[in-house]
Amino acid sequence: MRQLKPDVYFVGAIDWDRRLFDELIPLPDGTSYNAYLVKGSDKVALLDTVDPTKTDVLIENLIKTGVEKIDYVIAHHAEQDHSGSIPDVLTLYPDAKVVTNLKCKGMLIDLLEISEDRFITVDDGEELSLGDKTLKFVYTPWVHWPETMGTYLKEDKIFFSCDFFGSHFATSGLFVEDESVVYEAAKRYYAEIMMPFRGPIKKNLEKLESLDIEMIATSHGPIYDNPGFIVDAYKEWVSDEVKNEVVLAYVSMHNSTRKMVEHFVEGLIERGIAVKQFDLPVTDIGELAMSLVDAATIVIGAPTVLAGVHPAAGYAAMLANALRPKTRFASVISSYGWASRGPEQITNLIPHLKVELLSPVVVKGSPKNDDFAALDKLADNILCKHKEIGIVG
Ligand code: FEO
Repeated sequence: MRQLKPDVYFVGAIDWDRRLFDELIPLPDGTSYNAYLVKGSDKVALLDTVDPTKTDVLIENLIKTGVEKIDYVIAHHAEQDHSGSIPDVLTLYPDAKVVTNLKCKGMLIDLLEISEDRFITVDDGEELSLGDKTLKFVYTPWVHWPETMGTYLKEDKIFFSCDFFGSHFATSGLFVEDESVVYEAAKRYYAEIMMPFRGPIKKNLEKLESLDIEMIATSHGPIYDNPGFIVDAYKEWVSDEVKNEVVLAYVSMHNSTRKMVEHFVEGLIERGIAVKQFDLPVTDIGELAMSLVDAATIVIGAPTVLAGVHPAAGYAAMLANALRPKTRFASVISSYGWASRGPEQITNLIPHLKVELLSPVVVKGSPKNDDFAALDKLADNILCKHKEIGIVG
């Protein structure tokens, strides 16, 4: 039985072996589905449940706490990795009510067919007494769904944040043990699902400033008993600051684009610009997403295949477009055999990126001296743009 504070228990499940989320996001370190039990002097609340694949673990953990009744199941978020076991919990505890906001209630009915009479809806800032413990609900929309909320346990100063501040990191430690390791996992998590919502996250961070928080208990990964660490990291990630960095995501079929990439990367390094290079067919897209959190510029290396842009490069462009990083500049370097619409196609795939497009470098066949000179010019242009926005030291 794992306890955060007296009468506050971790009852979630560690998923050491999961390697993919949403059939999209790699999980190199597994994940966890954190659920918490809060026993008040009068009432008992379960905060979130677990992924349906781990319902048995949740039930076993609940039994270990000796809990005989659950009065409230607090649903912070309707996504099934946290809500998926609610129907089983409601069957096991027939008097339990699901406490959530109106939007989440609608989603839970849609996704899990929970009957309407099992719900109690709460407003932003509303409180629910468990006797000697009080839950205060804090709406935190768009971290990362529109209905998400958190709960502040007033007496213990714990903020249960759901996905907000989370990390896909399976660990036997209840609390963060090595901040540098968790920083990487949390940044990856932010990049993969939170980054498109930088604006709402800024507002949610401001909202939390009014709370005296000693602990942040997320729904994935270890609990922060030094919450300032993750709050400061989030403030940096959602800020408008970018770094003197280029993310170069490329694919090459017959080495023409690769030769361009090698020359170009060397040129950027000579100009004092940091580079993160990704060979797309073997890239962990979580690593690529993380690199986009801070970089000022993205360049996509895209050869032409089947009369169009290589699909791997198109995929990277679509991903960047969906993640909406704060990247300021973008360009394309491309090689073709007899005709090319590559740069134009890439540009059409990134309408959500608020970037200034820098002139692409497009080469017929293998790059020659003039082409290398054009790549040098693009590197000069990037340096010039980075200087204009004041990020070159
Ligand atoms: Fe961890 Fe959005 O669910």
